[in-house]
Amino acid sequence: MPAQTLSVAILSGKGGVGKSNVTLNLALSLQQSGASVLVLDGDLGLANVDVLMGFTPDGTIWDVLQGRTTIDRVLHTDPASGLHVLPAASGTGQQAQLDTKSCQLLLKTLRPLAEKHDFVLLDLGAGLSETVRLLARSAAVQLVVTTPEPTAITDAYALLKVLSKAHHLNHFQVAINNIVDPEEVSLTRTRLLGAARKFLQVEARLIGTIRHDPLLQEAVYKRTPLLHLFPESPAATDIASIAKKLKSLRRKMIAEGTISPCLSLRTRKPAAAAPADQAAASPGTTPAQTRPVQKASPARAAATEKAPKGSASPKKSSR
Ligand SMILES: Nc1ncnc2c1ncn2[C@@H]1O[C@H](COP(=O)(O)OP(=O)(O)O)[C@@H](O)[C@H]1O
Ligand SMILES: [Mg+2]
Repeated sequence: MPAQTLSVAILSGKGGVGKSNVTLNLALSLQQSGASVLVLDGDLGLANVDVLMGFTPDGTIWDVLQGRTTIDRVLHTDPASGLHVLPAASGTGQQAQLDTKSCQLLLKTLRPLAEKHDFVLLDLGAGLSETVRLLARSAAVQLVVTTPEPTAITDAYALLKVLSKAHHLNHFQVAINNIVDPEEVSLTRTRLLGAARKFLQVEARLIGTIRHDPLLQEAVYKRTPLLHLFPESPAATDIASIAKKLKSLRRKMIAEGTISPCLSLRTRKPAAAAPADQAAASPGTTPAQTRPVQKASPARAAATEKAPKGSASPKKSSR
């Protein structure tokens, strides 16, 4: 039977763009709609899904890997929704980075549990570390969270570039978070999704946008998930729409038989070589060993362009 569990890696270039809140509330929304969901706190050094949910973990994934405890003991079930969460450690340092071998072991350990769920959401650390790249590769879907800030867009573009060039991942879902002005969406579309398509030959699809919402910040302070505390709030409503799209995506992938095996590090084949004219039109996107390094990436150039008149300025935003 083709795989049924859709694993989704939630990624970002820059930290603090809202990955953990998006992951948790997406998971709750999916769970509330009848799906069974496992959240894996994959930010191994700076875990905080447990903090956002207001529980103290009985142990972490790392303890399981070290043989100190079992997955069953560490697995947390949210009493309000039945959502399953596997917590990671925070601030202990050594386990923040995993090499390929430990990552394989981690995935093998988690797979039997993961496969019992309809969705597995991996809340990954920011940036481009080996651990992030390996865990991102192990998922069937890669969902990149960014905000409209030029720095977040530039870093998201760098992430897409590395994952596509070095790991042959060519399809991404993108969620734009912390929107104050709708104009920010079209700017981010051009600067990130457009640039990725044009210069990286990567398909980056906008799965949804999430409004800036002070109630989300209040939920963080209260260590209670937004979806529980303010289910009708703007950000909760936006995240619920993304959850609906993820559900449809899963249905479509099941029908097509295209869900890759859950949490497995299969080798991906490079996509067909880009036509010569595209390569020429996108200097800086070819491997460093064959091309001189360019001064700026297209997204950096796009992201640092002045915003058109009338678009959100930092002053207008309370972020
Ligand atoms: N839609 C939003 N509206 C308002 N504040 C937000 C929103 N998304 C994120 N934030 C703020 O950003 C902070 C960091 O979010 P978090 O999910 O921890 O980011 P990450 O996991 O990417 O580091 C939150 O604590 C909150 O203050
Ligand atoms: Mg986080």
